[in-house]
Amino acid sequence: MSVVAGGVSGGPRRTVSSERWCEYFRSNAEALLPIPWDVGVRLSADEIATITTSIQEFQLGESSEGKTFAKMARAYAEQSGDLGYVVAHGLFIAEEHRHARDLGRVMDLAGIARVRKTAADGVFRWLRKLAGLEVSIGVLVTAEIIARVYYDALMRATTSPVLQTLCRQILQDEIMHVQFQTERLAIMRRSRGWPALLATHLLHRLAMSVACGVVWLKHRRVLGAGSFGLVRYWLAVRRELCIALHSMNPRRYEFDRPTIRTAEATREAVTV
Ligand SMILES: [Fe+2]
Ligand SMILES: [Fe+2]
Repeated sequence: MSVVAGGVSGGPRRTVSSERWCEYFRSNAEALLPIPWDVGVRLSADEIATITTSIQEFQLGESSEGKTFAKMARAYAEQSGDLGYVVAHGLFIAEEHRHARDLGRVMDLAGIARVRKTAADGVFRWLRKLAGLEVSIGVLVTAEIIARVYYDALMRATTSPVLQTLCRQILQDEIMHVQFQTERLAIMRRSRGWPALLATHLLHRLAMSVACGVVWLKHRRVLGAGSFGLVRYWLAVRRELCIALHSMNPRRYEFDRPTIRTAEATREAVTV
């Protein structure tokens, strides 16, 4: 089931409603790739050495409860009147938890210990709580763009059919996660003028460059084993970022005119 209503090069389109996102997340949960758990997870000593610290960190990242995030989503939904967003957000978090659960299961089967905290995960969680919902979503999109490249590398780096299938499923899910989050950013930024939008996009590019560098330093063994040398990795992240920046640009969407009257318009209507 696709919720994409327009292509990258198409004209303005409407954003996907929260109700439609709920439908998508529910139908996606019913159409998951069959993971061949019955064959087990047999990783060579080399594979284990390559992926251990890396998969531990990504599994932890996927497992965030996101209580503050959910609270901000609820406040935003009440203020904007888009109450369906809370449900869609909850279904999105459930997909992330499915990723964490399945990665954890792979780790258990491969004898890789789970971790409860890492420095990078701590910084990521702190950044997400730093400001409001918009910054939280922006930070999350940055992580998901990197995840799109990372899981591609992990899929190529392993010989395990279980891990390969799981990576393929996560990659499919993350495409839609980026669309879900970037459209919300476009909605939130729809009345922003172009100078402020340009500044926001430049900031996002800067944050992306820093995150991209840190992830390379920490996860280059998996990225390298998956045939992502530094240049290929950088170009792949840049490509995903361009798609995301395009999708979070409010100018590519048509929005309904605001139905809430300004105080002035209300006064005019009352005095006619
Ligand atoms: Fe995920
Ligand atoms: Fe995601």
